[in-house]
Amino acid sequence: MDMRIGILGAGGMADALGTQWARAGHEVMVSGRDLSRSTAQAARMSTAAASAPSAGAAVSASAGTGVVAGVAGAGVVAEVSRAGERGRVLAGSFAEVAEFGEVVVVAVREAGLLDTLHAAGLALRGKALIDVTNAANPKEYDITHSLARLIGEVSGGHVVKAFNLCHVDVWRMTPPVFDGRPLAVPLCGDDPGALTAARTLVTDLGCTPVDGGGAERAALLEATAAFMIGLWFSGADAQAVLPPLPSSGTHQPA
Ligand SMILES: NC(=O)c1ccc[n+]([C@@H]2O[C@H](COP(=O)([O-])OP(=O)(O)OC[C@H]3O[C@@H](n4cnc5c(N)ncnc54)[C@H](OP(=O)(O)O)[C@@H]3O)[C@@H](O)[C@H]2O)c1
Repeated sequence: MDMRIGILGAGGMADALGTQWARAGHEVMVSGRDLSRSTAQAARMSTAAASAPSAGAAVSASAGTGVVAGVAGAGVVAEVSRAGERGRVLAGSFAEVAEFGEVVVVAVREAGLLDTLHAAGLALRGKALIDVTNAANPKEYDITHSLARLIGEVSGGHVVKAFNLCHVDVWRMTPPVFDGRPLAVPLCGDDPGALTAARTLVTDLGCTPVDGGGAERAALLEATAAFMIGLWFSGADAQAVLPPLPSSGTHQPA
């Protein structure tokens, strides 16, 4: 189902995710601190959305065909038939974005989080909020001060933490598939409606939603990002620190 998606932010994450969602047919509105910059950003996103196939449509159309990325066959055909449905990308103030979105994505830097939420105002109350934020300095991340919790308390919205584990360039991939496996995206939140919306947004990227537990587990997702970013910056292959599922200790050998 197509949605109106408001994005608080007009930077890299807003660009990467919002372009993909516009491609999938949603209407998107972005916001930064300067409306003329956000308007230019929205125009670039509209152009990019119209010029490439939707990752989610390509993956679902290719399901069962053995084609993972929609480069050939069924994926492209499905996208051509959807071309006229692609969403627009608009720009507005933080308050306008909060009013506009059936779902509102929080994609600003930690330094601007409180100002942005206050500028967005009362329209966020009771709304589905997708929180993609991470701590500005992963080395100083304090698990007792979760950004997701702060966002929920200040806004009164139903927060789902998501999309914070991967670099912005991963969210530009159409679709993010590694070694033949679509990227799995953990979601932490309590509200069933907000979680349903978040699952749709994950699927539209060509990714697989994973239940990460309730809102209280969002801090663990933030801590995981801080830890992984530390490993990546030290040059380690962070993906290599986890065993595959059969060796996780949860599966008995056959
Ligand atoms: N980049 C990544 O790889 C990545 C990955 C996962 C999660 N995240 C998280 O996603 C969030 C957005 O990241 P991003 O890469 O999109 O950042 P970005 O490109 O720097 O954009 C940040 C956005 O925040 C807005 N903002 C509002 N108040 C601000 C302030 N006081 N200082 C700085 N910016 C302010 C900016 O407004 P203007 O448009 O007016 O500048 C801009 O729209 C961050 O919390 C980040 O930790 C980032």
